[in-house]
Parts: sequence; C-alpha cells; structure tokens
Amino acid sequence: MNRTTCAALWCLSICFALAASSPPLLSPPTSLRGTAQGSGILVGAAVRPAQLSEPAYAATLAREFDMLEPEDALKWETLRPDPQTFDFSQADAIVDFATRHNMKVRGHTLVWHRQNPAWLTNGSFTPEQLANLLETHIKTVIGHYRGKIFAWDVVNEAFDEGVRTGQLRSTIWSDQPGIGDAGMGAAYIAQCFRWARQADPYALLFYNEAEAEEVGRKSDAVYAMVRELKKQGVPIDGVGLQMHIGDQVPDIASISANIARFTALGVQVHITEMDVSLPVDGAGNATGDDLRKQADIYRRIADACLDHSGCSAIQTWGFTDKYSWIGSHSKHTRGAALPFDGNYQPKPAYDALRQALARGR
Ligand code: XIL
Repeated sequence: MNRTTCAALWCLSICFALAASSPPLLSPPTSLRGTAQGSGILVGAAVRPAQLSEPAYAATLAREFDMLEPEDALKWETLRPDPQTFDFSQADAIVDFATRHNMKVRGHTLVWHRQNPAWLTNGSFTPEQLANLLETHIKTVIGHYRGKIFAWDVVNEAFDEGVRTGQLRSTIWSDQPGIGDAGMGAAYIAQCFRWARQADPYALLFYNEAEAEEVGRKSDAVYAMVRELKKQGVPIDGVGLQMHIGDQVPDIASISANIARFTALGVQVHITEMDVSLPVDGAGNATGDDLRKQADIYRRIADACLDHSGCSAIQTWGFTDKYSWIGSHSKHTRGAALPFDGNYQPKPAYDALRQALARGR
C-alpha cells in the first residue's frame, strides 16, 4: 500500500468514526443554538411530542435549539391517568429526542392548580393523603428523569391574579384542603422543593410564574417568597419568568430591574414561555408592521436576559406559528406569536433573537 492510499484510508476511518459519534443533525453556527454557544445561555422551545415525527418540525428544532421542555407531557393530566399509573411515554419521547440532538431538558411542572386529572380534583382526599400523593408524584417523576432533566419547574403559578394579585392562590395543594400547611403561607411550597431536592440532588429547582416579569405586585410577592425561602435554606435554584406578551407593550427597564433583583438573591432566572401574540386575520396572518414591532420586543427581552449573567436560558412557548397555544387560548383572534411562521420560515423575530444572541453578554 503506498502512502497516498494509506492516508486516504486513515481519513476515511476518521470520518466514519466522527459520523458515528456525532448527533445525526449538526446545528450550523448561524442557528440560534450555534450563535448562543459560548455566551452561557441556553435557547429553548416548548415541544409537543406528537409533532416530533413531522420532518420539518424535528429538523428545525434540532437545528435551532439546545433546550427542550415538554409543553404538556409532564403535567398531571398527561402523566397520571389514574392514581396508580405513571405514563411517561410522551415525555420519554421528548427526552430521547433531546438526548439524540445534544439538548438539555427542562421539566414542567410538578405542582400546579391546572391540568390536573378529574380523579384528583374531584376526589375527596385528606391533607395527609394529598401530601402522600404529591410526595410520591414529585419523587417518582423527578426520579424517573434523574440525570436527564437538568431543571424543574417544581411549582407553577402559585400566586393569584386580578384583585387578589400577590396573594397565594387557593388550590388543592395550598388550602383546598392543601397538603397539611393550610394557612401557613408558602410552607407547602417549601415542602415541595425539599421533596424535589431529595429526588435529585443535582437538578436545578425553579419556581415558575406568569405576569411577574415586570416589577409589580405579583413579582414583589414572588421576590419576597424566594428571599424568605433562601433565608430558610429551602433548596430553590431559580425563578422562571414566563413572558407571554400580549397587547401590552412590555416595560423592558422594569423587566431588567426585576431580573437584576432576582439574580442578586443568588437564584438563576430562566425566561421560560416567551411568545408575543399579535392580532391576526382569518387566515392567521399579522401585519408587517406588527411583525417588526414583535421582532423588537424579542430582541429587547433577549438583551435584558443577556445583560445579567444569572439569566441563563431563554425559551419560547413552541417555536412555529403552526402549533401555538395562543390560537385556541384567544379564540383565534391573536396568533403569529413565535419566531418561525407556519411553514417553518424564520420571521423578523427570529433574526432579532439571533442578532441579540450574536451580540452576546
Ligand atoms: C398551556 C399549553 O401550551 C397548552 O397546550 C395547554 O392546553 C394549556 O397550557 N402557563 C403555563 C403553561 O405554565 O403550562 C401553559 O401551557 C401556558 C400558560
């Protein structure tokens, strides 16, 4: 064998070895995940498992994002068809996809007042029975994904809205009848975080909230709770700011100040559910002017996160306008909320996000 043939064979064998060990879809450096590389920020999207078999959905996801979160697949309603069963099939499909494409997974959510099964909400359980159910749920679900899900929304939306904004919500877990800490403020939340830490000492544990992005009554209440939990040594690592933006123009300076005060407590901030919904016509289309304004909001929110080293992930709630909860949520008067259109084409919002990520910290 001459030297040229030998070199060619060596090269071939290296290529095969590399191909076998690298993820099937390589993300280009110009993608969101490629652009964000090195700036210490994860770029995520909420995912519906049924869509993973759609080639354009899967290819876009794998190319652009390095973090996934099941949109509904880890909620009680999906996981717990009956008191004895844990049905992990849908969430497992998402975690497998993420593993194959070198992505992290956020878990959402273990304790919430919505999307619970009827057997739970209509059952008449004592506080002790509910505490047992919840402890088993938290430990079984986190345990199933130990080492695979790096961060959990342990508790979601515990603070009320409307006239009761800033007060703890009355729920099955807090005081209806609650898990045994009714009337003791956030004690039930502290208990959930302790169970979660016991289930996986390495997972990051988040409190996730809606309409707490700007400094205001709700975020003040969340801030006071997190500060108190930290003081008591409760294992909480982060706060998720959902960031569903509708027709109110967000006050970016206030959002930035809010991120600053949370990270100053020593917790991380993740932007967990960002979308910016627009008025749409019967065909689901928004105006060009609105799409440009939307892009500006995406850019400025990404900038606000990047400006704080403790803000370590930015995630959109879905990624294509083809599948977004906004349609049904708004009776189809709003939509076009995400960075990709219904044909997986990048929108101005995508370019804005990518430019912000390219600028870095
Ligand atoms: C939404 C999902 O996107 C929908 O598919 C589902 O029908 C309802 O819930 N805040 C949250 C998310 O924390 O879990 C919600 O997700 C949106 C609001």
